[in-house]
Amino acid sequence: MLDAGNLIKELQEMRDEGHLSDALLRKAVRKISEEDRFDWVGVYLLDGDGDELWLHNYIGEPTEHAKIPVGKGVCGRAVAERTNLNVADVSKEENYLACSPDTQSELVILIRAGEDIFGQIDIDSDEKDTFTEDDEIALIGVADKLAEQIAAERRDAS
Ligand code: SME
Repeated sequence: MLDAGNLIKELQEMRDEGHLSDALLRKAVRKISEEDRFDWVGVYLLDGDGDELWLHNYIGEPTEHAKIPVGKGVCGRAVAERTNLNVADVSKEENYLACSPDTQSELVILIRAGEDIFGQIDIDSDEKDTFTEDDEIALIGVADKLAEQIAAERRDAS
């Protein structure tokens, strides 16, 4: 089980040391992917216009979905509906973009600060119905910490 408390602490320490979101996003993906049940872990960020998700970094098999329009696939739908999505069986999902034929279930957790959506953590599993409520709660904590850093950088830039 992912030790989210420890990861969140490490991410905050990186912030305190002056690391930027790029390093935090890579760290989070690396740590989350240590969980055996998670076969592909990546972060997508919304582009400047907010109409496309761009793959920032990932661990797993290469994917052809480096850019996903908002509304398309599970990833794009999560942004369009402004909600996290836990898909227990991707074969039952009509709006689905296959990354790997082995993928059975998928979890998308938005990286957001209130109304502002910055992107998402996307996880695929080769087993059906992998993702639990505890996983969701843990990953929301991680996503919120990432959002804190991204929001701070955007404030500084404006
Ligand atoms: N399955 C996703 C596409 C991204 S890959 O899983 C890496 C979707 O349906 O949006």
